[in-house]
Amino acid sequence: MHNVVVLGLQWGDEGKGKIVDYLANQADVVVRFQGGHNAGHTLVIDQQVYKLSLLPSCIVRPGKMAIIGNGVVLDPWALFKEIDTLTERGINISPKNLAIADNACLILPLHAELDRHREELQGGNKIGTTGRGIGPAYEDKVGRRAIHAGDLLQSDFLKQRINNLLSHHNALRQGLNMPLIEENVLFNQITDITHRLTPFVTSTVQLLQHYQQQKRHILFEGAQGALLDIDHGTYPYVTSSNTLTGQVFSGAGFYGPAAVLGVIKAYTTRVGQGPFPTEDLGDIGQKMREIGHEFGTVTGRKRRCGWFDATLVRQIVRLSGAKGLVLTKLDVLDDFDKINIGVGYEILGKSYDYLPSSLQLQQQAKPIYRQVTGWKSSLKGCRDWSKLPTAAKNYIQVIEEFVGVPIFMISTSPEREDIIVRQNVFSL
Ligand code: GDP
Ligand code: IMO
Ligand code: MG
Repeated sequence: MHNVVVLGLQWGDEGKGKIVDYLANQADVVVRFQGGHNAGHTLVIDQQVYKLSLLPSCIVRPGKMAIIGNGVVLDPWALFKEIDTLTERGINISPKNLAIADNACLILPLHAELDRHREELQGGNKIGTTGRGIGPAYEDKVGRRAIHAGDLLQSDFLKQRINNLLSHHNALRQGLNMPLIEENVLFNQITDITHRLTPFVTSTVQLLQHYQQQKRHILFEGAQGALLDIDHGTYPYVTSSNTLTGQVFSGAGFYGPAAVLGVIKAYTTRVGQGPFPTEDLGDIGQKMREIGHEFGTVTGRKRRCGWFDATLVRQIVRLSGAKGLVLTKLDVLDDFDKINIGVGYEILGKSYDYLPSSLQLQQQAKPIYRQVTGWKSSLKGCRDWSKLPTAAKNYIQVIEEFVGVPIFMISTSPEREDIIVRQNVFSL
């Protein structure tokens, strides 16, 4: 298989960044196809930590092409900050290794401001967004008001687009008691960054077709996770994009065969509000948070923690067409005597083998657990299947059998090479 899609199958932060960086060794091109700088993808290479939000996770590998596809909402100021930080650390980023879709929609300062303002107004009902303007930017995209990266190339057209955008936003801002924005102020803000952004802006659709004709290996890097998907996630506690397989084709402008690889954490975490049936608010959740360093990459918030929910993952595997899985952070469970796996729910006295889409039912879901014995030894840094203790192999096998697809890779530390590979996804 020439092309591989890497998706998070839980609520994000499954370790996608590490896996994409690892697989990028075998790929030529890595494409982001949705989300924006709400993502926080961590790579650890020889103890050097790189936190990426917008840049595809191949960017630290010389000779690889990184593409920000049209499905991404792009904040140019956040992008430059990220580029500058990496440049200071000796990573070269130029149009030779980074291309941005000319039809990607921009996140402007007014989007982040609106995102934060609305969250504040919501009080106890807030979503717990990253405050980066993701939702408002996608609203403008669907409302056909957004400004494309390519619009910056023509200043008269840009002025028209700004006028159109502000006629909507200023009406909204007036209603929300926010100061109005003057057209020329926004125009100047945008033109200030035009010279820096435009060298990267191109038809990434054409570029991808070119790579496809050359039979290059293309990796598609998902952001967020399946349960944050705007359609299939725990709505309304979701992000504002589709995060599943279908989005690859519309958000990259690509059609072709690709194997879907799902990334799952050996337990479950979630940042922000919303249902989380296996959440553990006691000592177990706290222990997972401490050992797994479960604090948000983007906002530094505490991640909520709980047992692995196999019911949810099975549901998402079927929805995403994942052919295989990567199990990450197995080492975080090293010190648990007993380990629970969620294998169903009881909701209002009825048993369910899937999580229904109704928020009211999701909030009432009580997990049914199967318990296995812990391995009580350190797996940290293990790279060899034969060295895993029987109890760890058993945990993996129970998950595989329940979920219905094999686990191809197992990650045992944040470090790039600390990984057990049982099946090379490119050779499927
Ligand atoms: P992403 O958003 O899916 O890329 O994941 P994040 O980078 O937000 O969060 C995953 C965190 O777990 C990062 O801090 C990684 O360095 C770390 N990590 C990844 N794989 C492993 C692993 O196998 N073991 C441990 N202990 N940490 C890991
Ligand atoms: P990565 O790619 C975890 C969550 C936010 C919030 C909800 C909506 O690192 O896995 P948004 O700002 O997108 O409107 O917030 O989605 N969220 C994430 N949670 N990992 C992420 O990305 C996330 N991106 C958004 O916490 O609950
Ligand atoms: Mg993350």
